[in-house]
Amino acid sequence: MSLSPLEPNAMPSTIPDIAYREVTVDRIDEVRLLWEKLNGYHSRLSPHLAEEIGCRTFDHRKLDLVARANAGKIRIELAAHGERDIAYCISSVQAGGVAEVDSVFVDTQFRGSGIGTELLRRALAWFRDVRATSIIVSVMHGNDSAVAFYQRFGFRPRAILMRLSGENTDGRVGL
Ligand SMILES: CC(C)(COP(=O)(O)OP(=O)(O)OC[C@H]1O[C@@H](n2cnc3c(N)ncnc32)[C@H](O)[C@@H]1OP(=O)(O)O)[C@@H](O)C(=O)NCCC(=O)NCCS
Repeated sequence: MSLSPLEPNAMPSTIPDIAYREVTVDRIDEVRLLWEKLNGYHSRLSPHLAEEIGCRTFDHRKLDLVARANAGKIRIELAAHGERDIAYCISSVQAGGVAEVDSVFVDTQFRGSGIGTELLRRALAWFRDVRATSIIVSVMHGNDSAVAFYQRFGFRPRAILMRLSGENTDGRVGL
C-alpha cells in the first residue's frame, strides 16, 4: 500500500545549527527532560485531565515505549541546538504495519521555525521505508494547535475518545 501524506514544503529551520540524531531505545532516557516538558504542557491543556496527567511519569511511558520496541519497531529522533536538546519525535510501527506518531515536542522558544515539520517529515519517510499500512496519531483534548500541525500533513480527525472515570477499588465504575 502506498501512503501519501501531504508533504508541506520542506521548511528549512530558521534557527541555524540544528543537528538531528537518531538514538536506539536503550538511550530513550535522552528524551526524558523534553518528555517531562511535554507532559507539563499536556497537563495545562484540559482542567479535567490535569490531575491524571500530572501523575504520569517518564518511567511509565518508557515501559510502554520499550514494549512497543520489543513488539515492533520504534524510532527515536532528537534535535539539538548546540549542546542542548530542544526537540524530539518518537514514532513506532506495530507488527501488523500500523504506524503511530507517539510523541513530538519542540521546546517553547524554538517553535514555529520548522523543527516540528522536519521531525515529522523524517518520521513519515521512515514509515514509508518500513512499509507502514496506516499512520495514526493521538492528540490530547484541547491541543488544537497540534491538530492544525498534523492536518498540514494530511492527517484528519477520525474519532473522539470519551471516558467515564472514577473507578472503585474493585475496578467497577463508581457512578
Ligand atoms: C506541535 C509542535 C511539535 C510543532 O512544532 P514546531 O516546530 O513549532 O512546528 P513548525 O515550526 O514546523 O510549524 C509548522 C506549522 O504548524 C503550526 N503550528 C505549530 N505549532 C503551533 C502552535 N503552537 N500554534 C499554532 N500553530 C502551530 C503552524 O501552523 C505552522 O505552520 P506555519 O508555518 O504556516 O505557521 C510544537 O508546537 C510543540 O511541541 N507543541 C507542544 C507539544 C505538542 O503539542 N506536541 C504534539 C503532541 S500530539
